[in-house]
Amino acid sequence: MGLKPQVLEVLERLGISRGQIVLDFGCGSGTYTIPTARIVGERGRVYALDKNKRVLDELMQKAELAGLRNIKRMDTSGEPRIGLPNESVDVVLLLDIFHPYYFPQAYDRRRLLNEVYRVMKPSAFISVWPKHMESEAKDEIENADFYLEKEHTGMLIHDGKNREKGQILNFRKR
Ligand SMILES: C[S@@+](CC[C@H](N)C(=O)[O-])C[C@H]1O[C@@H](n2cnc3c(N)ncnc32)[C@H](O)[C@@H]1O
Repeated sequence: MGLKPQVLEVLERLGISRGQIVLDFGCGSGTYTIPTARIVGERGRVYALDKNKRVLDELMQKAELAGLRNIKRMDTSGEPRIGLPNESVDVVLLLDIFHPYYFPQAYDRRRLLNEVYRVMKPSAFISVWPKHMESEAKDEIENADFYLEKEHTGMLIHDGKNREKGQILNFRKR
């Protein structure tokens, strides 16, 4: 199976569906952003947030080639501050970003989670692939007022190209 159908299937299993507003925090060049935009469709929207301008340029080129107009680029300085209103998104993707390489201290990760919590609608969920931090992530996220709703284990795409087995955890607001 090619990478694209595989990613679509994972995202649908996580609960991404037509019409949703999704924030892909630390989206990179779009391995998950582009398929998410296809699923949410024209009535939905994907906010693609990253601190690396180059990967966002790459992502927007891919979006244009694919004819996707529902991806909104969000450049940031790396501060865990999200330029969106309170309770405005249905889903936040935190894929291979919630770990000490990018957020070295538990305090940094907690600030990120607080900000994510702020922009989530009451019914929203987060999908976290806690790569590099598999054992501690769940406790930290639950301590930030989320509860674990479901887990998805399967083949994921790492660094845009490598297939590997991984686990994505879905949490909702408590
Ligand atoms: C390992 S990549 C993961 C990309 C994508 N989520 C995926 O799974 O394919 C992590 C991305 O997060 C971005 N990033 C790291 N820290 C960030 C921060 N504080 N704010 C915004 N983006 C950040 C990096 O620039 C990089 O593009």
